[in-house]
Amino acid sequence: MARKYKVVVVGMGKRGMHHAATFQANDRFEVAGVCDIDTARLEAAAAKLGVAVKGTDAREVAASVKPDVFCFCTLPHVRTSMIEAGIASGARLIAMEKPIALSSNVGFEVRRLLASSGVKAVVSHQHRYGVHYQKVKEIVASGALGRIHTVYGTATGWMTHMLSHLIDYTRWFNGEAEAEWAMAQASGRGKLADIHPSPDYIAGFVQYANGVRGILECGAGAPDVPEVDYWWRKCRIGAQGSDGFAEVLTGGGWRAVTKQGSWSGEGCMNYELDMPPYIQQMADWLDDDARVHPCNFASACQGFEIAMALCRSVAEGGQIALPLTRPADELEMLRTSVPEGKVLLSMPANAKEYLS
Ligand SMILES: NC(=O)c1ccc[n+]([C@@H]2O[C@H](COP(=O)([O-])OP(=O)(O)OC[C@H]3O[C@@H](n4cnc5c(N)ncnc54)[C@H](O)[C@@H]3O)[C@@H](O)[C@H]2O)c1
Repeated sequence: MARKYKVVVVGMGKRGMHHAATFQANDRFEVAGVCDIDTARLEAAAAKLGVAVKGTDAREVAASVKPDVFCFCTLPHVRTSMIEAGIASGARLIAMEKPIALSSNVGFEVRRLLASSGVKAVVSHQHRYGVHYQKVKEIVASGALGRIHTVYGTATGWMTHMLSHLIDYTRWFNGEAEAEWAMAQASGRGKLADIHPSPDYIAGFVQYANGVRGILECGAGAPDVPEVDYWWRKCRIGAQGSDGFAEVLTGGGWRAVTKQGSWSGEGCMNYELDMPPYIQQMADWLDDDARVHPCNFASACQGFEIAMALCRSVAEGGQIALPLTRPADELEMLRTSVPEGKVLLSMPANAKEYLS
């Protein structure tokens, strides 16, 4: 029988429980330790998962379990300490949540720590396992759209929640081409105080090395996706080419128009369907170095640099060349540069989040 990998999961909130339950349901993994600074959450998670080793200090839990996989699902401001704890535990793979960090100061340190340790890492952009996302990828890759010239993604949710997803899936549709520069504007300061700190609205462009244009919009000014009721899933992500387009609606299937006609199909973002293949491919990569996880850190980090370049463009103006040559505190740059005026909405339903 194939070897079972031991896992420690840190941060037993919404996403930590998704990860832990999916590891536990996969016979290639065993959740051997859990950690949260909130003891009530910790006790509830340990009881539910039937895990004996638990604690409030990630480093201690990981040192006692010596896991193969160190998974952390803390909020975005907790990053470097977790990567250090994972590396110190001897884990061979670190599974982390998006976004990689809130600034390139932190993100580049995470990248340096991972590179110097040789530990594999994955970032949870698991929407791409949805059947509707897979269908759009398949159509784009088939050549049916002709020469791809544009990839685009919009979400009404705010930047630190959603931009990482939009960039990852548009990069995927674009064959993970490298980016050469990015440029953006932002508006609205309300969500800078959120635990996922963000301008209320950011919109920008990306120039990819293969000539494809990326267009991204996140937040209050992003267009409605009226086909989708659930506010967080009002995301439209797609590719346009010389012969047609294909796009996915996170909460509402997919559609495509090509020279051969038009098509559409079902699909809705669903953690229960998207997490199992994401987790299984961690076992595949641990088993075999050649089976690199599609959500690998190196790829996600290119997307992270695009996000940071967009933020810098908001603060500094103009185009920001990629790759970035020096780290910075982009969140602080946004705090000092996003204008004071109230954000303007693309639809009334956005008022509950952005005008309170
Ligand atoms: N991939 C996705 O689709 C998706 C969806 C939602 C959220 N997220 C991301 O997942 C991450 C977690 O989000 P969430 O909604 O699960 O948050 P959450 O608030 O539900 O859970 C976070 C947990 O981490 C714990 N925690 C914080 N600091 C800790 C520390 N130092 N040691 C141990 N535990 C600590 C908190 O007590 C809390 O229980 C965020 O980065 C978020 O952006 C990703």
